[in-house]
Amino acid sequence: MGIPQPAFYIFKCEQSAPPGMPKPSCVTEDTKGLFQYTAMKLMKEGIMMTAPIIKTSCMNRCSAGPIMLVEPGHTMYVGLTEEKIDRIIAEHIVGGNVVQEYVISDEMWDAPISPADAKKQMGM
Ligand code: FES
Repeated sequence: MGIPQPAFYIFKCEQSAPPGMPKPSCVTEDTKGLFQYTAMKLMKEGIMMTAPIIKTSCMNRCSAGPIMLVEPGHTMYVGLTEEKIDRIIAEHIVGGNVVQEYVISDEMWDAPISPADAKKQMGM
């Protein structure tokens, strides 16, 4: 019997912007503790092995940050707070139900373009 695969991967954007940069970013003075908060919560719940959290750089949805992407399912959560993370872990990661009210809008997260179609759009 092998080591079980994770049931979920949680990708948390950890991009910050230098002071004075006009573009928003997911990590600011107010939100810099959210990665550690989520990791601690997953550990306390005893589910880090089956739902690890991974730091990423920008996923191009900066104005909706702080964000994280839950796979499988391509579920992007936005405007994260500790309270939202608690609900996402309880209801989605443990309970299996997406917390729709925290999911990014369709305008910001439309259907994916296949790499083959992306190449065609670029004339390649
Ligand atoms: S800085 Fe997080 S999505 Fe861009």
